[in-house]
Amino acid sequence: MSSVLRSVVTGVGGYLPDEIVTNADLAKFVDTSDEWIVERTGIRQRHRAAPEQGCSDLAVEAAKRALAAAGRTAAQIDLIIVATTTPDLTFPATAAMVQRKLGAPIGIAFDVQAVCSGFVYALSVADGFVARGLAKCALVIGSETMTRLMDWTDRGTCVLFGDGAGAVVLEPGEGTGGIEDRGLLGFALRCDGTKQDLLYVDGGPSTTGTVGKLRMAGNQVFRHAVVNIAEGVEAAAAAAGVPISSVDWFIPHQANQRILEGVARRLGIAPERVISTVAEHANTSAASIPLAWAQGIADGRIKPGQLLLLEAMGGGLTWGACVVRL
Ligand code: UT7
Repeated sequence: MSSVLRSVVTGVGGYLPDEIVTNADLAKFVDTSDEWIVERTGIRQRHRAAPEQGCSDLAVEAAKRALAAAGRTAAQIDLIIVATTTPDLTFPATAAMVQRKLGAPIGIAFDVQAVCSGFVYALSVADGFVARGLAKCALVIGSETMTRLMDWTDRGTCVLFGDGAGAVVLEPGEGTGGIEDRGLLGFALRCDGTKQDLLYVDGGPSTTGTVGKLRMAGNQVFRHAVVNIAEGVEAAAAAAGVPISSVDWFIPHQANQRILEGVARRLGIAPERVISTVAEHANTSAASIPLAWAQGIADGRIKPGQLLLLEAMGGGLTWGACVVRL
């Protein structure tokens, strides 16, 4: 078989801010209960960034851990992509701030905005650089301070989200073009802009001039998620040329335990093959997949050589999936 360049994941890292907010903490000021939140979502707690911590600070901590896992230093990075919907500032890109704070040299740095699907979108963009030999050491980061977008009087949304960051290092590696290659093997990305009103933030620089608050028609998003994610996952598996039955670990976006289980069931993936961190992290938007991935490596479940299936869905509505061999 001919030789092809693959984008190989050489390091993964996650970072959660120190403060933990439990369901009981929220029930003190909004009309909810631990029982309702656990039963409807599986969420037990979420982490919240300290007031002085910005999105770029969380991203830097995750990036340092991913670099250490890859045995790389900031001096080697030539591409940084941050997937975020909660940047420090409207501009410059959070990725530019991450470059500065890490002390990385002049290179390519920009943000990707696809909300909760941002990390999968960003991986595919990075693959376009790494697998064409245009970047030798890329950082792809999902970093979010979702608690800053909450309307704390809206119990339908404020209990669902948390803060955190996760990062991977991507490097070029020779493959044969087959499914045994290490690296990113296939993607499917989707957006249906007609469903904007189901999940959005009601502010922005060119409309209100404010940051705005997150608004969601939760049960409609729920329905969309369970119905449409499976098609995207199947398309990504087909693009990679792998049957879903050969996947070692399913790492879905962590929005709701019921969605995660529903999607896995539709795809015929056994519950013990699903990495779930939603109970401890809640929904950290673009950070949720790399955070769950880092957790699966840290606790010894995810091992080199294994086949991973990543899946996400969020505002846009966007959704997508990616198949990776470690
Ligand atoms: O990452 C982006 C993608 N986002 C998602 O995937 C989120 C998708 N949606 C969901 O996860 C679920 O729809 C929710 C968890 C948001 C809501 O669960 P649900 O089972 O769809 O509930 P619902 O919205 O249909 O509301 C049922 C009831 C309502 O009360 P009534 O009208 O039946 O009296 C709500 O007011 O539950 C009430 N409710 C709550 N009660 C206690 C809504 N939020 C809460 C709450 N505590 N926090």
